[in-house]
Amino acid sequence: MAAGGVSLFARLPICGQRSQVLRPIHRLLSGPGTVAADPRREEQSLGIAETGSEDRTPKKRFSEVQKERREQAQRTVLILCPNKISEKKFLKYLSQHGPINNHFFFESFGLYAVVEFCQKDSVASLQSVTRILSVGTEAAIPFRSRFFNLKLKNPASQTSEQSDIPCSSQSPPSNKKLFELLCNAESVDDQLNTLLKEFQLTEENAKLRYLTCSLIEDIAAAYFPHCEVRPFGSSVNGFGKLGCDLDMLLDLDEIGKSSAHKNSGNFLMEFQVKSAASERIATQKILSVIGECLDHFGPGCVGVQKILNARCPLVRFSHQASGFQCDLTANNRIALKSSELLYIYSALDSRVRALVFSIRCWARAHSLTSSIPGAWVTNFSLTMMVIFFLQRRSPPVLPTLDYLKTLADAEDKCIIEGHNCTFTCDLNRIKPSENTETLELLLKEFFEYFGNFAFNKNSINVRQGREQNKPESSPLHIQNPFETSLNISKNVSQSQLQKFVDLARESAWILHQEDKDHPSPASHQPWGLAALLLPSVTNSVSHAKKKRKKPASERVKNLLESIKSSGTENSTNTSGKRTVSTQA
Ligand code: GTP
Ligand code: MG
Repeated sequence: MAAGGVSLFARLPICGQRSQVLRPIHRLLSGPGTVAADPRREEQSLGIAETGSEDRTPKKRFSEVQKERREQAQRTVLILCPNKISEKKFLKYLSQHGPINNHFFFESFGLYAVVEFCQKDSVASLQSVTRILSVGTEAAIPFRSRFFNLKLKNPASQTSEQSDIPCSSQSPPSNKKLFELLCNAESVDDQLNTLLKEFQLTEENAKLRYLTCSLIEDIAAAYFPHCEVRPFGSSVNGFGKLGCDLDMLLDLDEIGKSSAHKNSGNFLMEFQVKSAASERIATQKILSVIGECLDHFGPGCVGVQKILNARCPLVRFSHQASGFQCDLTANNRIALKSSELLYIYSALDSRVRALVFSIRCWARAHSLTSSIPGAWVTNFSLTMMVIFFLQRRSPPVLPTLDYLKTLADAEDKCIIEGHNCTFTCDLNRIKPSENTETLELLLKEFFEYFGNFAFNKNSINVRQGREQNKPESSPLHIQNPFETSLNISKNVSQSQLQKFVDLARESAWILHQEDKDHPSPASHQPWGLAALLLPSVTNSVSHAKKKRKKPASERVKNLLESIKSSGTENSTNTSGKRTVSTQA
């Protein structure tokens, strides 16, 4: 294990902790993917427990968390406020409409407030006193949403009462801050837990994600009453980083279901409906009109793009107020089930999230992943690789999907489009792992394992938790856990895979070197995870081999100097080397 070195950054002052601005202390709804307000749950959530799954408190099902969050979001409003207001007066004004459960402020091209009422009626009451105003020559499109502007009636007279409002940050820490924190950590395990703590979704960010879905649902409901817009992907699966996109599913299944059991007597009633030639065409038509609707009438929805010919048709847009990049899909229930599976894996053992976050940050820092689609590995695939690796440990850290299927009861049975998506939804039925390996060891072993994996002949399979012969010739084959004939990493090119392998070997090598060298605190070098997040010297195998002849300490020091001299973050420096980028 590396000694806790004092880096070049160590002399910089460390900023205070993120201010807790959600108040009053709310009822805890968070799943494993968010920072929880309860200190004991926070420990579990942050993966502070050293090894294994010591947590014995009952864990919520994915569906329970989704239901509670959704209901909470329906009682919540989003308000664009004047830059400086009196928080006390603001709350007093709003509480005319009913008691407020909690609220927080955040900044995003203006000061916004998220206010959760105790009752849904309060929202209707607030809407009933709200006007729609056309500005100048522009004509307002009348839409009574839950997204408001708050104006001061007499700004001049209220200036003296205005005060600075504490704002909740919706962004991850800067690279500089992250490096300070990592270099000041006590161990590699501590580094991984620190990274998780800094990057995971906060309670406020999770609320904002559910609220955004709920606001989009209001718009979609104008066409399809009783539809649901549900978040999926990393926003809810436990692996979301601050700044990640917001994947949404327009769920129309509830519409047809609602009155099925009330049919009685000799007759059956059915709605008259129009039909499309296929499910795909129906999905494209529905998303097309919702896309138009968001574009023309959706408050705060900008840059709407309809990407209807993709394998999974979607509408992409930015939600300006929350700052989220949103991908709205429909008829995509398998993706929701994948999110539930990942939620379970993320919650089973405190080490899983810490390892996934670090590997994702490592991959991003070395441009192995990108926010642009292409021939590179995706975060989803990387997560599957970590899960597979953890299933391969002895004893395993995580169970296989087939094992989770054996724990399922009748209620868990789930077949989607002919694919068996059954597994237990009750986390409390799954026995904790007996594996007690440290995060440091797991990180090192992950790089060793995939640095030497026979990608040319083997497939990664989390359903069975063992390597299998590749059924086709894609460079990287990761079996889709539910649609088992599909490869989730079909897009990855041989050169991108090679880059991944080279970097994995390089990173394993750096960690092994540190074991030997034991960098001293006086050596002023980044160490452990911090060293792994530095720009790669491995642009090709030959380049890497050449570099390996130099001692790690010297290489890392040179790299650090190059970062310092570039003076920029997340960019290309003058020598053409990449600087650290850990943002999603
Ligand atoms: P981020 O990079 O943090 O957004 O991770 P993510 O897990 O949200 O990934 P992304 O936004 O790319 O995709 C959202 C969800 O769609 C994933 O969590 C998966 O459930 C699903 N998904 C993404 N890519 C694939 C794929 O190639 N195949 C299948 N079957 N599902 C996918
Ligand atoms: Mg996503």
